[in-house]
Amino acid sequence: MKLILSGTDRPGSNSRKVSDIIAKLLLELGEANEILDLAEIQLVERMQKSHYGKPAPAPIQKYLDQINQCEGLIVVCPEYNGSMPGILKWFIDHLKYPDAFEARPVSFVGLGGMFGGLRAVEHLQQVFGYRNSYIFPERVFLTNIFKTLKDGELTDAVAMELLKKQVSGFCRFCRALQGEGLDALSLQKKKA
Ligand SMILES: Cc1cc2nc3c(=O)[nH]c(=O)nc-3n(C[C@H](O)[C@H](O)[C@H](O)COP(=O)(O)O)c2cc1C
Repeated sequence: MKLILSGTDRPGSNSRKVSDIIAKLLLELGEANEILDLAEIQLVERMQKSHYGKPAPAPIQKYLDQINQCEGLIVVCPEYNGSMPGILKWFIDHLKYPDAFEARPVSFVGLGGMFGGLRAVEHLQQVFGYRNSYIFPERVFLTNIFKTLKDGELTDAVAMELLKKQVSGFCRFCRALQGEGLDALSLQKKKA
């Protein structure tokens, strides 16, 4: 299963709409997928006492499990103040080191204004690089997202083509890593 992480909790976010587009593209390729929308994690759950490094409270654990069980992660990240949204970093910081991201194939889609989330994605690449993920090199940056996204569709044909190419390329990337037994799920199976 490929997991699409919609990287903000902003109500009605464009990140969620882009995540839905990616989910459709994956389905067209016959790839099972799920969306993890950070907007679904309720504030009351977040406010529970910090459990960094300890077993997580049940309502949060199910989201952490989704990460641990995916064969590839697609992070859809908006740019907030020149970086990733705080809620996304909060979520990443609750994922167990090294298990969650070590050898996990990861792909990035940025969205924002003139630079399409470039800064946010570059910061994320540092974080996932630190966590030893397999980072798919083709990134997509959706510029001026407030103009190009209409009724849940990307009106920019070039951006849509780039997204399609990235999605299919990422699926091949995951298969190649699986073929050699290098990805996180294959390594988990070997350990078991
Ligand atoms: C708190 C906040 C900060 C933002 N900061 C930036 C920014 O630094 N650079 C940029 O290009 N766009 C910025 N934007 C615009 C967002 O990238 C754009 O509105 C995008 O749709 C936000 O994603 P979302 O709809 O998933 O929340 C910001 C938006 C918000 C809400």
